[in-house]
Amino acid sequence: MSFDSKTELSAIILAAGKGTRMKSKKPKVLHEIFSKPLVGRVVEAIDNICPDKNIKSVVVVGHGAQEVEKYLTKYKNVTCVLQKEQLGTGHAVSMALNELKDFKGTVIIACGDTPLLKSSTLRKMCEYHIEHSSDVTVMSAIFENPFGYGRIVRAQDGSVEKIVEQKDADEEQKAIKEVNTGVYCLKWESVKDCFRELKNNNSQSEYYLTDIIDWARQKKKKALSFVIDNPDETLGINSRKQLAQATQIMKMQKLDELMDEGVTIVDPLTVSISPETKIGADTVIYPNTFINGENTIGENCKIGPFTHFRGNVSVGDYSKIGNFVELKNASIGSHTNVSHLSYVGDATLGSNVNIGAGTIFANYNSITKEKKKSHLKDGVSIGSNAVIVAPVELGENVFVGAGSVITKNVEKNSLALSRSAQKEYPNWVEKQKNLLNKKGEE
Ligand code: UD1
Ligand code: CA
Repeated sequence: MSFDSKTELSAIILAAGKGTRMKSKKPKVLHEIFSKPLVGRVVEAIDNICPDKNIKSVVVVGHGAQEVEKYLTKYKNVTCVLQKEQLGTGHAVSMALNELKDFKGTVIIACGDTPLLKSSTLRKMCEYHIEHSSDVTVMSAIFENPFGYGRIVRAQDGSVEKIVEQKDADEEQKAIKEVNTGVYCLKWESVKDCFRELKNNNSQSEYYLTDIIDWARQKKKKALSFVIDNPDETLGINSRKQLAQATQIMKMQKLDELMDEGVTIVDPLTVSISPETKIGADTVIYPNTFINGENTIGENCKIGPFTHFRGNVSVGDYSKIGNFVELKNASIGSHTNVSHLSYVGDATLGSNVNIGAGTIFANYNSITKEKKKSHLKDGVSIGSNAVIVAPVELGENVFVGAGSVITKNVEKNSLALSRSAQKEYPNWVEKQKNLLNKKGEE
């Protein structure tokens, strides 16, 4: 049997642990990379194994359960189950038994703190598991320094004999460099009974999920390991340092991918781009640019230096977003320039629009907490230092004078000015000087 659209897939995500080393009041799995919580990234990696399929994930929550559960309500295919006491990874999985009691097929087990796991890797693992008719497949990695991980003890035929935790390992086992990454595929109907039979007679008095291998062998079932090519993907976040490390890896992967697709990144060291951003070929990203959240940027654009995208932004082809420009919830057409020192939020800008330096879209009322939208049609030109106060609509080719505060809609082809008229006081400077001189003589 191979992996196809008929393959039944579900997942259990372990996320009950405390994350002490984060030194945080926030549950560990809600810490974010590019504004998306770690556990959200794991849920999405699983969802995207088969995008046309609705994969049910059961998330085991414990520390900060309410907060984690609240965040996860946005994923309709996720169910949370509570593990009141953290008695071990095997105990955690047993919390999900009821949710999956009628399920038949492959269950993926992963941890909620491994944000770099890729759908393509999970998919390969599932394929391997199914093609080899395995009952338990553990994802393993080869580490030069395996300290702290469970070691994979192989049987003579190459299958997995058992997994031994660091704390339970003898010297010979400690020398093994193949480790358990904590990701598994289970043939659910074949192995689920194991979780009612696990014992905690080990050095940590925990119910180990890894004991499933021992159990499977005793029942003459097949246990295999799937060695991952790139162990970076399995990096689990336990500290702020690891959070930063994972962010860097994710960022570099994205920049590499974009450069492969024809985007110029002038200085990759100072540019951050979220995995959720799409950018067209021949666009150039200048230094110190931070592009966060979901965005789409067209071809042949110039972005930066020092530009900040805050998500939900689209930019058409041949547009330019320059230095010290912040964008959020904005749809910008093609051949449009927002070149310097501007904020564009909750706005639509057509094509061939020009936004002068220092223009602000005032979109937020801090008393009502409401955000309103502005719409600028094609060909609009805004002079420097203007304020566009939402809600407002500017017709085609409208011209706004520098320094204007625009609070009302403007008909197409009109000039809108809202500054006080300039006054001139002839010889004013000389008069001032004369006055000063007289004072001096007194
Ligand atoms: C586990 C594996 C080890 C593997 C390592 C990979 C076991 C016994 N050991 O060890 O072989 O090399 O992961 O990182 O499984 N969790 C719960 N409830 C619990 C205990 C844990 O939800 O009662 C969650 C944690 O939040 C975490 C995950 O399970 O996301 C792993 O737990 P952790 O204690 O980090 O496992 P390790 O001891 O590192
Ligand atoms: Ca542990």
